[in-house]
Amino acid sequence: MSILITGGAGFIGSHAVVELLENGYEIVVVDNLSNSNIESLKRVKELTGKDFPFYEIDLLNQTALEQVFNDQKIDAVMHFAGLKAVGESVEKPGYYYHNNLTGTLILTSVMKKYNVKKIVFSSSATVYGDPSMVPIDESFPLSATNPYGRSKLMIEEILRDIYVSDNSWRIAILRYFNPIGAHKSGRIGENPTGIPNNLMPYITQVAIGKRDVVQVFGDDYDTYDGTGVRDYIHVVDLVKGHLKALQYLDENEGVETFNLGTGIGYSVLDLINNFKKVTSNDIPYTVIERRPGDIGVCYANPDKAKKLLGWQAERDLEEMCQDSWKWQSENPEGFQ
Ligand code: NAD
Ligand code: UFG
Repeated sequence: MSILITGGAGFIGSHAVVELLENGYEIVVVDNLSNSNIESLKRVKELTGKDFPFYEIDLLNQTALEQVFNDQKIDAVMHFAGLKAVGESVEKPGYYYHNNLTGTLILTSVMKKYNVKKIVFSSSATVYGDPSMVPIDESFPLSATNPYGRSKLMIEEILRDIYVSDNSWRIAILRYFNPIGAHKSGRIGENPTGIPNNLMPYITQVAIGKRDVVQVFGDDYDTYDGTGVRDYIHVVDLVKGHLKALQYLDENEGVETFNLGTGIGYSVLDLINNFKKVTSNDIPYTVIERRPGDIGVCYANPDKAKKLLGWQAERDLEEMCQDSWKWQSENPEGFQ
């Protein structure tokens, strides 16, 4: 079976590429490298000892995308490509909607043209907005507080409409909680440009001495230590969920949504303290005001994925910290 991976040079996509190759899939990668580096794919080839076609193209370029479908045999698509920085999406909504929505519209129309009707889509727990309770299951009300989140919500709706229009589609919408960690080898990992938006890459950059201190965004949330609680999930567990989703689509028509999380919430201070303990690094931090738009608590009820996909996360917070640190300490400049 041959899988097209959009955004395959990125953080999660590159880990999915490794997992697919190790499980005997043929793959084709497309990425415009707008938020990634070709070096990630070179390292994937080294790690797996396998080669695969890579097209440096933009999903917005329909002609180029059609050429890929012409050149290659494709049975299904894993669609990771998208812009993901919440703050930037507030500043540049048009850019985000155009890239994420139009990119998906072009991709799905080309898929239809070439009779490829199986897709696994990267959605996000951000579509639950500020949930009224936890753990969050897939039936919770959906909302968005920024253009990035709204683009995910809109793409979910578009995919459901596509299925309504043609019941032979098979669609898995995967709502990720907070992916961290890296491949065990330390050869691939998250490679943020500029100041990291997310907590784990910020912590690892403090550990390596690139930044002085972690700023904890608020300690007055209604949580056990006052700091924000999230469901951190190891990126390798996350991509294993994608393979299970792909297998599910082989056997089931329809559109189905799954939470991919561990079901366990950890606070900002839990993450800092765990990282300190596991890596023996000092992680100075200072508490500042809340980050606008942040919510207090977010963690998954992952029962549906366990029941229907036979998937559950296996790696604990300690392993997530270890692997994030191995990646950062062995690649202080990322892929540069
Ligand atoms: P990433 O930025 O590392 O990877 C995305 C890749 O898509 C990049 O390599 C980028 O160059 C590529 N890309 C973007 N727009 C493109 C376009 N128009 N044409 C071709 N390539 C394009 O991000 P990631 O963390 O690997 O996230 C992958 C997906 O998962 C994204 O859709 C993201 O929104 C979603 N997601 C991520 C997180 C997270 O915390 N990392 C959480 C929830 C959902
Ligand atoms: N935080 C800090 N300091 C930092 C960065 C984050 O205290 O420097 C806190 C946040 O306030 C939050 C927690 O750490 O309580 C996690 O923050 P992240 O930025 O790592 O993650 P978010 O939960 O805010 O958002 C992430 C992605 C979103 C995605 C969401 C759900 O950035 O795109 O997970 O999947 F939608």
